[in-house]
Amino acid sequence: MTFQGRFADSLIAEQLEQVSLSFLASGLEIRRGGVGGNISFGMGVLGLRPVLVGAAGPDFADYRSWLERHGVDCESVHISDSAHTARFVCTTDAVLAQIATFYPGAMSEARDLELAPVAQRVGELELVLIGPDDPEAMLRHTDECRERGIPFAADPSQQMAFMDGPAIRRLIDGATYLFTNEYESHLAEQKTGWDAAEIAERVQTRVITRGAEGCTVFTRGEEPISVGVVPARTVADPTGVGDAFRAGFLAALGWGLELRQCAQLGAVMATHVVETVGTQEYAENLTGLRARLAEVYGDADADAIAAHLPESRV
Ligand SMILES: Nc1ncnc2c1ncn2[C@@H]1O[C@H](COP(=O)(O)OP(=O)(O)OP(=O)(O)O)[C@@H](O)[C@H]1O
Ligand SMILES: [Mg+2]
Repeated sequence: MTFQGRFADSLIAEQLEQVSLSFLASGLEIRRGGVGGNISFGMGVLGLRPVLVGAAGPDFADYRSWLERHGVDCESVHISDSAHTARFVCTTDAVLAQIATFYPGAMSEARDLELAPVAQRVGELELVLIGPDDPEAMLRHTDECRERGIPFAADPSQQMAFMDGPAIRRLIDGATYLFTNEYESHLAEQKTGWDAAEIAERVQTRVITRGAEGCTVFTRGEEPISVGVVPARTVADPTGVGDAFRAGFLAALGWGLELRQCAQLGAVMATHVVETVGTQEYAENLTGLRARLAEVYGDADADAIAAHLPESRV
């Protein structure tokens, strides 16, 4: 929601003990989101069939049909019978100050989910990405991957700030891929007490994204690869860039492309998110990818990626 005044004008320092405030909002926008939803949506629009695993509420029906229309398998989403789907509600005032609330709701039931039945239903799990979720669920899914020898990608994102060192170690030790932005990469090192060299011993490939400066991919025993961004034509709203980047990266990985090309497809997906408002509103604009990739990365990589894209996206 947007509030045209300033929150600060209503907050009286001496009265903070008994705050009871209501703001008259001038705008309300409701958007789909959530890391799991965003990443699987992006993979779906690139023609893959990702399996979304998590817990939602009975209000998930509309979101489910949207995701399924865009290629996401939602059969393994658990529906709670007592709590609503997680939701983030934020009000921004005229000077961009924010008052926000996050309701995890059904999300905490993700800790009861097992991956084995998912694997049985869909066949072999090629890679499990464990994104920010109920912390207990993240740990449990990671442990299950390790026990069953399922390759996993660690992507703790914003949960990194709330989890302690031992928990973060458990999330990333033995990961095939570790995704973080630059800030989270420092947080990971600080909280685990493992420096870059030690993380490199425990993780096969580490991807660090650096906003408009692109990303670097570190693989054990190989030279680091740096990939720049696909410049955005307009900057509408950067929310969700990290998720779109992962969607493109994972899609290309699924097609067996090189890590450089995975990062390139990730970058062009992120650029589409920057150019639209919202995290899942870019599907209609996702065309002409070959030309856009070729402009920045050259014809050879663009062709290699385009060979796997659905016809409507090339
Ligand atoms: N302004 C931008 N223009 C073009 N590409 C961008 C821009 N910002 C980010 N990207 C792309 O998105 C990728 C991920 O960005 P970033 O490192 O900001 O992720 P993040 O901090 O996890 O974002 P968020 O969590 O807010 O989604 C970058 O590596 C880059 O390819
Ligand atoms: Mg992020």
